[in-house]
Order: sequence, then structure tokens, then C-alpha cells
Amino acid sequence: MEVKILKDMFEKEYGEGVVDVYFSPGRVNLIGEHIDYNGGYVFPGALTIGIYGMLRDRSDNIIRLRSKNAIGEVVIDLDREIVYDERDDWGNYPKGVIKKIMELGYKVNGFDILFYSNLPDGAGLSSSAAIEVLTAYILLHKNKAEDIDRVEIAKLCQEVENKFVGVNCGIMDQFAVSVGRENNAILLDCSNLYYEYVPFNLKDSSLVIMNTNKRRELSESKYNERRAECDKALDIIKAHKEIENLCQAEIKDLDYIEDETIKKRARHAITENMRVKEAVKVLREGDIEAFSKLLIQSHKSLKEDYEVTGLHLDAIVEEALKFKGCLGARMTGAGFGGCAIAIVKEGMEEEFINEVSNRYKDRTGIKADFYISKIGDGVKFIGRC
Ligand code: GLA
Repeated sequence: MEVKILKDMFEKEYGEGVVDVYFSPGRVNLIGEHIDYNGGYVFPGALTIGIYGMLRDRSDNIIRLRSKNAIGEVVIDLDREIVYDERDDWGNYPKGVIKKIMELGYKVNGFDILFYSNLPDGAGLSSSAAIEVLTAYILLHKNKAEDIDRVEIAKLCQEVENKFVGVNCGIMDQFAVSVGRENNAILLDCSNLYYEYVPFNLKDSSLVIMNTNKRRELSESKYNERRAECDKALDIIKAHKEIENLCQAEIKDLDYIEDETIKKRARHAITENMRVKEAVKVLREGDIEAFSKLLIQSHKSLKEDYEVTGLHLDAIVEEALKFKGCLGARMTGAGFGGCAIAIVKEGMEEEFINEVSNRYKDRTGIKADFYISKIGDGVKFIGRC
């Protein structure tokens, strides 16, 4: 996006003058779903779409937060305690981060900020992680602490989301948004946060993101329910053998679990973790067909064992897989609506989009959106203008 357009946007809100511009991407998870909080491997990447932050310092202790994508403004007085307020809606994410950064001992002064997002709203591409990581990065950059470990940024933003916002998410989203690198996916071991970049080369295929445009209803309560079910499975297996997280369990350990639902949840966690390792191996070997097949298996497991897909995600994935040039597809993110991904032969993307779009509309009555996606960099300072 052109910096000049972003500067104009800011000046329309706050008047003319110097503007600092930052960017934080959304993320897509290629495989390894619902296992970050089970100590498993995940394999996400940052997107080239995300949230821009344009700001200018003030001479007082007031922070004004506005967004081009929402009406109203959130005002923070730095001389008062920062508290969660439901009425502040999206503003609670930056508020929580500002509070946390101050608690860590960094100096925060007043500023005016305008956010602008080109991520589809409510699509599960991690706009909340993007705005958290963006805010943290801006504050640290202004403190000349930009060399701060990006892993630390991810950790502090996850803490804000868990404790200040009250959403019990894992580390994957904040990590991908903070640590992302152009054309590389991140293989992250969520048990110890070791990670490595893996070149994301699909050879003669493209990654297509399919937005069901079905909002992720009940996603929070169902998300927490799944986490609790996994904790239960872990407790049961732990009574028989020494493991630290569910992804360390083996398939044969499922025999310890009597409850069918709990057993299915655990089976997803264990098999999904195995799929991630295999997926990275075949991707490195350039075997895109094998990689795509693992995506299909992942979706099946999320549908049947973890039960987080639902009608819309299942419909779009099924229709995608009917297309001759589609090698694989699966839901991505938390599920219960939101986005799926597909691997499509280069040159056939347009035909794919038309066909899947029509069929999905016939089945659900909803118009889906499609984006041909590239893997981009993590959060960054774009410049002063
Ligand atoms: C959401 C959470 C992540 C992760 C995914 C599912 O995006 O924020 O931590 O658990 O769901 O893989």
C-alpha cells in the first residue's frame, strides 16, 4: 500500500504534519491446527495484508486511538490506570498492550494513532494478534528498543490477550505476526518456542485463501471448551505415563481414555502433530502433492475428531476439492467459520475461484471471497513521511 495514501488518511483525521507508518500482517496457518496450546508443532506464515498504524507524538499524556475500519475513538489518559472496557471494543487490544509495555518499565508518551486494516473482518486471519503486535512494536521502536526479541513481543501480546482481553488463545498467531519472514513459513515448536524458517515454495501451484464469510459464532466458548477437553485428556494419560503435553502422547495412549469425545480430541492433537512434521518434510522435498494430501487429512481430523469445522467450512473445502486443479484444502485458524486454504495449480486460479464461488453460493446462499496469497514479513516500521 502506498505510503502517501496512508499519510493522507492520517492527516484527514488529525491534521497535517509528520507521520510515522508501521505495518503488522495477518497470518495463515498452513497446518498444525488447535495444537499450539497442546505443545505441538504449528506451521504458519505472515500474510502481505494486515494492519497499518500511522501515528504522531503529542506533547501531553493522552493517547487517541482511531481506526479507519470503525467509528468513534478510544482515549487513554496515561496518568490514570488503564482498564478493560467492553465499550472500547477493538480498542482493548492496544490498551492492554500499552498497559503491559508500561508495566515492563518502558516510557510511553502521548500520541495520536490511526489504524487501517485491509484484512477481511472477522475472517480468522488474526486481526487481533496483528493489532496487538503492531502496538507493542510501535512502542518498543519509539523506545529505541527495536532490537528486542520478536519472540518476547509475541509472548507479551499473548499474555495481554489471555489476561487483559480474556481470550484463552495459544501463541501461534502472535508468533507468526511478529516473527514472520517473506516467502517463508515458520515451523514452531510450541512446547519451547524453538522455531525455524522453511522456504514456502509451492513450485507450480498457488496458495488461495477462501473466506467463507461466515462469522465465527460461538468460537470463543467452543474454543475454551476444546482446550478444557484436551486438558482432561492430558490428565488421564498423565495418570499412566510421564508426559508434559498432549502432543507428546502416542496413539496407543488413547486406550487409557474411556470417554469417546475426549478420546477424539486427543486423537486429533496427536495425529495433527504427526502431520505437521510430515508436511514440513515433504514440502522441503518439493513434493507438493504429498503436502496437499496432508492438508486434506488435517481437515478431516478437524471435522470428525475435533469438530470445529461446521457447514460453511466443510462446504467450501468439499467444493474446492472437486476442482481438478486443486491439490488440497483445509480450514485454517480456530474454525467455526472464517477461512480455509487451497493449493491450486498455477494458471487455474481464476477458473477455480469462479467454480468454487458459484457452488459454495448454491449450497450456502453466501458469497465467498478469495485471495491469492503470498507469505510476507512480520511486523515492521515502514518509515517517517
Ligand atoms: C486461534 C488461536 C491460536 C490457535 C488457533 C487454532 O487462532 O488464537 O492460538 O489455537 O486458533 O490452531
